[in-house]
Amino acid sequence: MAYIIAITNQKGGVGKTTTSCALISGLTARGKKVLGIDLDPQGNLGFSLGIEIDDCPTVYDIFKNRLDLTEVIQHTEFGDIIPSNILLSGAELEFNRSGREFLLKNLISNIENDYDYIIVDTPPALNILTVNAYVVANALIIPMIPEILSLLGVSQIKETIDTVKKFYNQNLQVMGILLTKYNSRLNLAKEVNEMAENIANQLYTHVFDTKIRTGVSVAEAPAHGESIITYSPKSKPSFDYNSFLDELLKKIESNS
Ligand SMILES: Nc1ncnc2c1ncn2[C@@H]1O[C@H](COP(=O)(O)OP(=O)(O)O)[C@@H](O)[C@H]1O
Ligand SMILES: [Mg+2]
Repeated sequence: MAYIIAITNQKGGVGKTTTSCALISGLTARGKKVLGIDLDPQGNLGFSLGIEIDDCPTVYDIFKNRLDLTEVIQHTEFGDIIPSNILLSGAELEFNRSGREFLLKNLISNIENDYDYIIVDTPPALNILTVNAYVVANALIIPMIPEILSLLGVSQIKETIDTVKKFYNQNLQVMGILLTKYNSRLNLAKEVNEMAENIANQLYTHVFDTKIRTGVSVAEAPAHGESIITYSPKSKPSFDYNSFLDELLKKIESNS
């Protein structure tokens, strides 16, 4: 059965999509069978991996029962992808029936056995889409950027996690906080590390040993339809994402 990881933080611009792409393509490169699911109406995950998202079947079509899963999954060299686009933005209003927390759970129950890993990219929000991701996930990874302001606001995500654990998915665990766009030379590094540890404690988790350093090629990769790992394999962020994959796999394998 697939191990399902949701990449989440209600703040935008913290590296959720970059991390999702790196995990999808990195795990695929390591011989794992991987499915990436985009739950962000901005559609960045599919776009970043080279999919034409404007006019293609998306996760929304499956939620609406208009298309079958097999019609929506795109097979790419980086892994299988269920893309999203702006049509998903009405989800909060549109999916208002009871059971709406289980839209994603229902749809992947048929294919869970086909994959080793499922990576879910989420919107910069704590809404019904986020809850759908938490309901299916075994684990959450929370990317954060090392800026004081960006580290504030942990109580909201904690509340969402606690609610999902209580009502829908008691096995959900926060695997860790991943510091991205990291620059160890900053004077603030020590304070930021302490603050991140503090947040991790509040979420009963830890900060991953691996930090993802900043690199200009990260911004270029999506335009080429590739993750940073294949676009610029020798760059610092690519090196770091590979170390992160080592750390992650070790952790998952030692738990199972
Ligand atoms: N390690 C990094 N180094 C440099 N730029 C980065 C890094 N990680 C992310 N970025 C840039 O930051 C912006 C936000 O990243 P993204 O992954 O889209 O965040 P989110 O999905 O959380 O909104 C993008 O422009 C991306 O290119
Ligand atoms: Mg994103």
